[in-house]
Amino acid sequence: MKILVTGAAGFIGSHLCEKLLADPNYEVIGVDTFTGPTPDQMKKSNLTGLEAHPRFTFIQADLLTFDLEKLLDGIHIVYHLAGMPGVRSSWGKDFGPYVTNNIVATQLLLEAAKNKPIEKFIYASTSSVYGEKDGKVAESAPLSPLSPYGITKLTGEYLCNVYQKSYNIPVVTVRFFTVYGPRQRPDMAFHRFIAQILKGQPLTIYGDGTQSRDFTYISDCVEGTAAVIRAQKVIGETINIGGKERATVNDVIMLIETLTGKKAPLVYLPKISGEPKHTWADISKARSLFGYDPKVSLRDGLAMEIEYIRSVYSL
Ligand code: NAD
Ligand code: UGA
Repeated sequence: MKILVTGAAGFIGSHLCEKLLADPNYEVIGVDTFTGPTPDQMKKSNLTGLEAHPRFTFIQADLLTFDLEKLLDGIHIVYHLAGMPGVRSSWGKDFGPYVTNNIVATQLLLEAAKNKPIEKFIYASTSSVYGEKDGKVAESAPLSPLSPYGITKLTGEYLCNVYQKSYNIPVVTVRFFTVYGPRQRPDMAFHRFIAQILKGQPLTIYGDGTQSRDFTYISDCVEGTAAVIRAQKVIGETINIGGKERATVNDVIMLIETLTGKKAPLVYLPKISGEPKHTWADISKARSLFGYDPKVSLRDGLAMEIEYIRSVYSL
């Protein structure tokens, strides 16, 4: 089975490729153009374990300009992860790449998929489509994104839906919830906090730190995402992929202090617009459709990310 993963050099994409290649029946074609918040060098090192793999092919290409019909030739499964991530940086004058990479690239890929015998087109969406919610959120909850980023990702979902309705593209949408672990993007909270504390710099907290997230460890995220291939009755479905544990930013910082044995001054900065106070995934649909069962505790996951940050920055 031939699988295309867009955004293959990214945080989640590189782990997903590794997970898929563990199945001897899968051949993986990864495509990426090295853009977004992560430096190229970090992205290239995300590919280190993959490039030598005999069933992996990497194509450096921009979905906005590449011949996508050719790219989709012979492909059975598409995982569309390529995009411009990050809630906070989607404000301001740099919104253009959110529109082009999250909306236009998705439309072009769907357009190219129209007459292809693709079995599943799996779109990586986000908890950011829900907006402010109290309690656990199921996929049927009303959608009201708070950030420009969330709007572009929701538009991607809507594009998938209309291409499915009009052209029978077998879309499955997965909504990820704040993913963390080795190779996490350097703009994300845990990466920043761990690097800051190990370097003896102050930790920057947006708001009072009582905001909570459904933090999802990367191996749980890609386990659930990979399971979509074999799952029955998922076409047309939208599925939350959440984590094992929720926590506040303040809880996370205390745990990082314990695990590193270091303390750092805490700098409380103004809350950034567009961030929900809480996220909390109802994962019962993923559980019933393909037995999704996130396993990694925040403590164990953070310990693995700390090891990664130490090695990346030689700290
Ligand atoms: P990432 O930036 O590490 O990976 C995205 C990759 O897509 C990058 O390597 C980038 O170069 C590539 N890309 C962007 N535009 C492209 C284009 N036009 N052509 C080819 N490649 C392109 O981000 P990530 O954290 O791994 O997120 C992956 C996906 O999951 C994104 O779509 C993001 O919106 C979504 N998501 C992530 C999280 C999270 O917590 N990380 C949560 C919810 C949803
Ligand atoms: C993450 C990803 O970056 C988005 O791409 C993704 O779509 C989103 O998850 C999602 O689940 O929808 P976010 O929840 O903001 O977004 O993830 P983090 O960067 O890990 O931030 C978590 C919390 O820490 C946020 O409340 C943020 O305000 C806070 N934070 C972040 C700080 O207090 N200080 C920092 O230096 C960074």
